[in-house]
Amino acid sequence: MNFKVPNSVIIKGTGKYVPEKMMTNDDLAKIVDTSDEWIYTRSGIKQRHIAAPDEASSDMGVNAARNAIEAAGISSEDIDLVIVTTVTPDMMFPSTACLLQAKLGIRNNIPCFDLNAACTGFVYGIEVATRMMKSGLYRHALVVSAEKMTSIVDWEDRTTCVLFGDGAGAVVLAASDEENAGILGSVLGADGSDTAMLKLPAGGSLMPATAETVKNKLHFLQMDGKEVFKHAVKIMQEKALEVLDLCKVNPEQISMLIPHQANARIIESVAKRLKITSDKVYINIAKYGNTSSATIPMALDELVRENKIKCGDYILLVAFGAGLTWGATLIKWQ
Ligand code: UT7
Repeated sequence: MNFKVPNSVIIKGTGKYVPEKMMTNDDLAKIVDTSDEWIYTRSGIKQRHIAAPDEASSDMGVNAARNAIEAAGISSEDIDLVIVTTVTPDMMFPSTACLLQAKLGIRNNIPCFDLNAACTGFVYGIEVATRMMKSGLYRHALVVSAEKMTSIVDWEDRTTCVLFGDGAGAVVLAASDEENAGILGSVLGADGSDTAMLKLPAGGSLMPATAETVKNKLHFLQMDGKEVFKHAVKIMQEKALEVLDLCKVNPEQISMLIPHQANARIIESVAKRLKITSDKVYINIAKYGNTSSATIPMALDELVRENKIKCGDYILLVAFGAGLTWGATLIKWQ
């Protein structure tokens, strides 16, 4: 086995995938009592993509992963670690990572596992992969965030169904000899003391599926949007500053802030508190809605493919989600 401790872990390729079908706010207003005006002014969302009935998270993840692998200029044979972050796994088990491994023809005998940190999943996934790679045991890791959020929203609940969409983002991380490059540092955290704020109650061991749980709509996402909003603004700002402090980088040095896309107002508020100007904040929620852990890698891929990131740029990722969980990662682009 190849064993060489790398100096750094860099992002070698990015990819994204969104399903073909798109639903606008006006389309939604035909199903629930809402309007384009309300959704756009409260959240910044104009449309979202909806996966086909037979299209699972692993299928979306496979498409995003293929793009990332191609962009990295490697073959799936080179992958020696797979992490999939998702709150909408294809099934309880086996993991979506194992399903994706098989679909991509990634070789056997490597670790493949799912990681659930809700919307913070990608930031957690990057940190876990980086730490594993810094052991020297893994050279190329595939981190895929794939979410079919429309499979867990209650289409009769206007307070939640207007916010979410489906999609997947992926990165190939590579061990590198470069110093001071790639993933410079991360801060992760969680507070499980108020899980009621955002949850999907049934379908697990606490409340297995019964006719009663289905009747009571307990297999759908439940959220206290106002509470989540308040926590998100505070936590994202704090964690962004913490990771910058850890890496000895000032907010003025940031070339691009890529926040989790849950609400444009949350993002604007965080950027203002960090004194990061709007030209350095990436917001694409209008096109996709909230795709949970996939928002950040999808946004990163768009920026890379539009040549909006260059070598030496400091890129700051920051996310929060159910749990509550949170995380921030600072990257020096290579
Ligand atoms: O990834 C992490 C997960 N989620 C989040 O980060 C979400 C965080 N929270 C939010 O983004 C916002 O709290 C929401 C967008 C969910 C809601 O915005 P808000 O400004 O906090 O609205 P609100 O919940 O206070 O609702 C205001 C009004 C209410 O009516 P009344 O009580 O004032 O008469 C709601 O019933 O808007 C009503 N409302 C709607 N009206 C039209 C709620 N949803 C809708 C809707 N269309 N879809």
